[in-house]
Amino acid sequence: MPSLVSQPGKPLIGEVEIPGDKSISHRALMFAALAVGESRISGLLEGEDVLATAEAMRSMGATIDRIGAGEWRVHGVGVGGLMAPDNIIDMGNSGTSTRLLMGLISSHDITVGMTGDASLRGRPMSRVIKPLSETGAEIEARDGKFLPVTIKGTDMPMPQDFTPQMASAQVKSAILLAGLNTPGITRVREKIATRDHSERMLKSMGADITTALQGDERVISLVGQPELTPINLEVPGDISSSAFLLVAASIIPGSDVTLKGVGMNPLRTGVIDALKAMGAHITVINERELGGEPVADLNVQGAQLKAVKKLPVDPSTMIDEFPVLFCAAATAEGTSRFTGLEELRVKESDRLAAMATGLKANGVAVTELDDGLEIKGMAGCVPGGGTVETFLDHRIAMSFAILGQMANAPIIIDDASPIQTSFPTFTNLMQGLGAGMEVHNTP
Ligand code: S3P
Repeated sequence: MPSLVSQPGKPLIGEVEIPGDKSISHRALMFAALAVGESRISGLLEGEDVLATAEAMRSMGATIDRIGAGEWRVHGVGVGGLMAPDNIIDMGNSGTSTRLLMGLISSHDITVGMTGDASLRGRPMSRVIKPLSETGAEIEARDGKFLPVTIKGTDMPMPQDFTPQMASAQVKSAILLAGLNTPGITRVREKIATRDHSERMLKSMGADITTALQGDERVISLVGQPELTPINLEVPGDISSSAFLLVAASIIPGSDVTLKGVGMNPLRTGVIDALKAMGAHITVINERELGGEPVADLNVQGAQLKAVKKLPVDPSTMIDEFPVLFCAAATAEGTSRFTGLEELRVKESDRLAAMATGLKANGVAVTELDDGLEIKGMAGCVPGGGTVETFLDHRIAMSFAILGQMANAPIIIDDASPIQTSFPTFTNLMQGLGAGMEVHNTP
């Protein structure tokens, strides 16, 4: 497997286009595959996770073609038109593909087997299996909760009125997608708001979907069996990928980087507020709208960050950005404490454990809490010199690649290949800005 060696380079200087948003790319392919007619998607993220979604939708009857770099054409089968694939579908590393597709399949009269890589096979699926079983689908999973699964969808699905027990856009979307081919109204009641890309995109395609505040709940209601009109969508840049650059340019003195076309959905931008609370110099410019989502350019300049005790945002608005924020905290002045993050234990890896181990291996004092981390910042460079195990988790790999830019001795990332799932151009893009990163292909 390819390892990545990260050590200080030059201050990061330049302007970069951020690759397409992963969450929006998955949804664009799935929903376009359910529309009647031809959709065009540009700026699609061509990472392994999204390609797994494309392959799965193809195997269930949609026609999906890549017609240029990031340019895709999709002929949908119409809501209710999915067909049984002739083989088990392999979702690779992608939790979003798996959980959303489990929802879609549940309300089709088809049987589908699904599996994934070792990371995905270790992630809990009961959070979707339980509510989706209430629709009438029969779902068999290894030990009742893990991939591989077999979903026997139903031709008489029941609409659900469901309150997820955790803040999860994947769970919310799985229930809503089951509701697409279900007569009647499907409702999801969120106690904590999560990214609303599914709601926005389905609405733009003509679905009757509304969000209402009832007390402290957000109630999302979808009228089943809409005819979805095709989309012509430009995918905004991924704020989660941008976060690596926001942190890198903040912690490397003398940096000045502009990120173009970053998605600014308010349920995703917590990392900007968190970094600003730590003293980062981030300016939002050229705010506009793209594909039904707010977008902006972000300028970020080097700054001495300070520790943070209480984040000014709900963790759900930056759930994927914690690993790299922990690296920012490791170079900040003072001790940071992050809590309420138990969901990080069930991501592509147990991110609290993986980050604590990797930080310790590089000389940072960390205390692992049940639901978070306490990190003693070094007010500058960390000692480094350690090897980090990535556990098939792209965000662990990229986070330590960023920390290596502020390490006294090189940081070695044992396996750079997971970066391909969400940000295939990461290393090139970082090198182009001045970072000291090298991938070593070992047989
Ligand atoms: C995602 C939702 C989040 C996030 C994941 C993408 C989505 O997962 O971590 O990377 O596209 O809906 P959870 O729903 O598990 O929080």
